[in-house]
Amino acid sequence: MAENGEQKVYASATINPYGRADEEVASVAQSEERRKKRMRRFAYIAAFAVFQTAVILVFALVVMKVRAPKFSVRSATFENFDVSTLDTSPSFYIFMNAELSVKNPNFGSYKYPISTIEFFYQDYKVGAAVVLGGKANLKSTKKFIVSVLLGSGNVPGDVLGNELRQHGLIPLTSRATLKGKVTLMLIFKKNKYTNMDCTMNLNITSRQLQDLRCN
Ligand SMILES: *[C@@H]1O[C@H](CO)[C@@H](O)[C@H](O)[C@H]1NC(C)=O
Repeated sequence: MAENGEQKVYASATINPYGRADEEVASVAQSEERRKKRMRRFAYIAAFAVFQTAVILVFALVVMKVRAPKFSVRSATFENFDVSTLDTSPSFYIFMNAELSVKNPNFGSYKYPISTIEFFYQDYKVGAAVVLGGKANLKSTKKFIVSVLLGSGNVPGDVLGNELRQHGLIPLTSRATLKGKVTLMLIFKKNKYTNMDCTMNLNITSRQLQDLRCN
């Protein structure tokens, strides 16, 4: 078939006196066709480049962006709730099991080393606990429990006595810092620290945690 076609073209060129002009018209049409094809291809490539740029931008802004995880106190239970509101010797000794959480908003795991959490009554330190090193997986929240003995040994008696008698609450704040690292795409590591800053009240009547708030 192909051979046949070639012969036909050859034959018509020799017979037709305007064969050359026909060929020129044909070649102009052909180059026009080629030009159009090139333009189309260019348009595809441009569209693809725009698409690719958008993908990379989204990737850079969403996936590769490192945000600070949130370290919070979630709840607490108490094993020993020893509170004295006596004028002469106001005090508290409370054994608390606090559930903490590390909420990791990143598209990569957050690994943090051992650290401490401290509890304060106003500016007086009333307890501390070790926070073991650990890992919060990508886009997830790791929860764990720390046990801490809260004791009023550092708090002046008059300060504590008034508070306990007036409000029946022990106001506390908790502070901690995790000096962890976010790992993106399994290879890129980036330091990201997070500070805990929570306030809460221990209700000495109900013996429960209330008004818990973390910034
Ligand atoms: C403490 O708890 C008791 C019992 O649940 C409640 O009646 C009281 O209002 C609470 N105190 C404060 C200051 O919220």
